[in-house]
Amino acid sequence: MSDFVKLVYEGKEFKLPIITGSEGEKAIDISNLRQETGLITLDTGYANTGSCTSAITFMDGEKGILRYRGIPVEQLAEHSTFKETAYLLVHGRLPTRQELTQFSILLNDNSLVHEDMRAFYENFPRSSHPMGILSSMVNALRSFYPELQDLEEEINMTVTRLLSKVRTLAAMSYKISRGHKVVYPRPDLAYSANFLNMMFDSPVKPYELDQDVVRALSVFWILHADHEQNCSTSAVRMVGSARVNLYAAISAGIAALWGPLHGGANQAVIEMLSSIVKNRNMAQVIERAKDRKDPFRLMGFGHRVYKTFDPRMKIMKKMCDKLLKKLKIEDPLLDVAKELEEIALKDDYFISHNLYPNVDFYSGIVLRAIGIPTNMFTVMFAIGRLPGWIAQWKESLDDPNWKLCRPRQIYIGPAQTDYVSIDKR
Ligand code: ACO
Repeated sequence: MSDFVKLVYEGKEFKLPIITGSEGEKAIDISNLRQETGLITLDTGYANTGSCTSAITFMDGEKGILRYRGIPVEQLAEHSTFKETAYLLVHGRLPTRQELTQFSILLNDNSLVHEDMRAFYENFPRSSHPMGILSSMVNALRSFYPELQDLEEEINMTVTRLLSKVRTLAAMSYKISRGHKVVYPRPDLAYSANFLNMMFDSPVKPYELDQDVVRALSVFWILHADHEQNCSTSAVRMVGSARVNLYAAISAGIAALWGPLHGGANQAVIEMLSSIVKNRNMAQVIERAKDRKDPFRLMGFGHRVYKTFDPRMKIMKKMCDKLLKKLKIEDPLLDVAKELEEIALKDDYFISHNLYPNVDFYSGIVLRAIGIPTNMFTVMFAIGRLPGWIAQWKESLDDPNWKLCRPRQIYIGPAQTDYVSIDKR
């Protein structure tokens, strides 16, 4: 098989090398294209563009495969914890028992946030969306925790701080938005249990940890921990390429994740399902989703890369059934979701467009069962995605070929035009 492709342009022939990944996927290396031919490529939305090489996550959208550092997400969901998966992503391999203990100690030691940060929370308008608050607060962390001199120590410290403090910041935003007393992290609780306790413990009603709920949250976060070069991760890498600090890069990722076409879909799914329950208009919703003139989309359906079932969705659906049964919850949204899925999967429009439920389709129902309010859903996604963002940022920093991200464009505006003074316009 040839290791280059030929490009013929204006009578000249150019050879563009083929790069092959460890799972056999291939790319044309166009790094010298402009220099050699004067041409650039145009790929709006980057659907055909690899922005980097990466050793973190492998996904195959046609086969429905997702692996972190080579390990199938199904195995991690069954055997790992979120903390261990975070270590795997950030450090590139599973930790030994001793390393995991050390990691837990560091997370615990860094779990408090500066008391002065509470003043920010108290001054956000009550109606602020928690994603906007989280993005601002993460960016603000740099002012409270300035740079260390040693780069290696700085990176390790920043990474641990972020992983630990984001969880505290998220729980704080919930408590403050409700006008309730903030609950501090507890050293005796592990990562997911600690978060649940900070969210739901109250002086008048102590929170009772249920191990199935703790496990469901841990799995929820494992399933969201990385997804290679998606919109928010690309934002983290792109902003990071200007060599900003990690907090600023992650803040950009949180802002990107907020969008309803990306992480915001989990909130949008619940809103859509609730409206179907309320208005009993399933058929109308499906017809609207199929109407090309109508911008409405079936939220939680479709994916840029998966053209078959999203493997995370299969695990999420199973977990959703198990958790609701255990908690003896009958959620009408689950019945509607299953009915909608069944109808859509038999419909020619969804079949011909390769539209299958994605991870967000059932994740909101799991979060509702845990007690998470709808406007916090995307924050939950952000906490889960944090190790992936950090791993990707770290990888780009270590990559000698990683440059300032600066795409080009094809200009389609007016040709040179003379300035006209205001009284002659
Ligand atoms: N409902 C109805 N039609 C859809 C949907 C949907 N959810 N998604 C895509 N389509 C249709 C489009 O209308 C288009 O149809 P056409 O070719 O007949 O005009 C075709 O499928 C391709 O759509 P694109 O927008 O080009 O596909 P893209 O790969 O850009 O979209 C996306 C991916 C944004 C996820 C899209 O499927 C969508 O909007 N889904 C709903 C939002 C959602 O669930 N987002 C979460 C994604 S997972 C995540 O980020 C964690």
